[in-house]
Amino acid sequence: MKGPRGGAAVPSPERVLSPAPRVDEAPLERGLRPRRLAEYIGQERVKGSLEIFIRAAQARGEVLDHILLYGPPGLGKTTLAGIVAAELGVALRITSGPAIERQGDLVSILTNLNPGDVLFIDEIHRLNRVVEEVLYSAMEDFAVDIILGKGPAARTMRINLPRFTLVGATTRLALLTGPLRDRFGAVLRLEFYDLAAMDEIVRRSAAILPVAVAPEGALAVARRSRGTPRVANRLLKRVRDYAEVRGEGAITAPLADEALAMLGVDELGLDDVDRRILLAIAEKFGGGPVGIETIAAATSEEPDTIMDVYEPFLIQLGFLQRTPRGRVATEGAYRHLGIEPPTPVDAGQRPLFGAE
Ligand code: ADE
Repeated sequence: MKGPRGGAAVPSPERVLSPAPRVDEAPLERGLRPRRLAEYIGQERVKGSLEIFIRAAQARGEVLDHILLYGPPGLGKTTLAGIVAAELGVALRITSGPAIERQGDLVSILTNLNPGDVLFIDEIHRLNRVVEEVLYSAMEDFAVDIILGKGPAARTMRINLPRFTLVGATTRLALLTGPLRDRFGAVLRLEFYDLAAMDEIVRRSAAILPVAVAPEGALAVARRSRGTPRVANRLLKRVRDYAEVRGEGAITAPLADEALAMLGVDELGLDDVDRRILLAIAEKFGGGPVGIETIAAATSEEPDTIMDVYEPFLIQLGFLQRTPRGRVATEGAYRHLGIEPPTPVDAGQRPLFGAE
């Protein structure tokens, strides 16, 4: 069983639509990542807020307040942390909640920062409590208290830290403890990108790769990328391979459609796992409501993976609803799957048993 704070989201490794980062794609991702705010497409609200925080802190000559970024994976939390550091002209140190196992690990990271640096902690909801407590005083007082020795002879020693900015990232805001959340000066939510932004991101990435792409070709890739730049960049690479082998090298709309159909990605960007989740709710559980654990068991996926990776986009599409009693498939989901929705029962007008 996973602890109450959630485990790792581990999508099926083969899944071309997974918004989770892949180690083999790190160099590609780094090359495509915007480095400055001016290059960053979409997320206008978050970008606007960050720009104001950064300029204000710079004008006052102060260290930027701690910032918490939350939202589904693949939307640019790490990229934004890099941009914050670049805009401030400081170094970025990247780590993650599960990577910091002991208090000493965190103290060592913190004492090695230079004044003003940005520390990025990904999956911050997965920090263990003991480590999290060290983070409280580090964030608030730029100091940590460490205990030396044991028993009656134990004493605490305060270590002062350089002032720094913590950028925390999480896919699950609800799993953050109150005290940690309260220590961030700003909490910013990343949203799925709209089609216009996705189109621009695909064209920008195509120019960097480089690969020739027709305007309708870029749009075809953008449309099936689930509002997620990491997915768009992965699909673009796959479609480029297809265009090189089956076409003349340029990505046209028909080529993109063919390549994406071959990858099992439908016209809305859903793949086999999304369809299995919706079908399970619709066909095995009468459309719901049904609990996440039950859906997980019926689809052989992890509950955390469903919650972090699949569900947010299905909700965004209006195919899935989260209710206090469980998940419900909507009429739109039935239509998309091409199956008949259950007829609504109006208890007030129909006899419960037999004829009137
Ligand atoms: N690549 C990935 N995310 C991006 C974004 N938001 N803007 C520009 N390029 C990107």
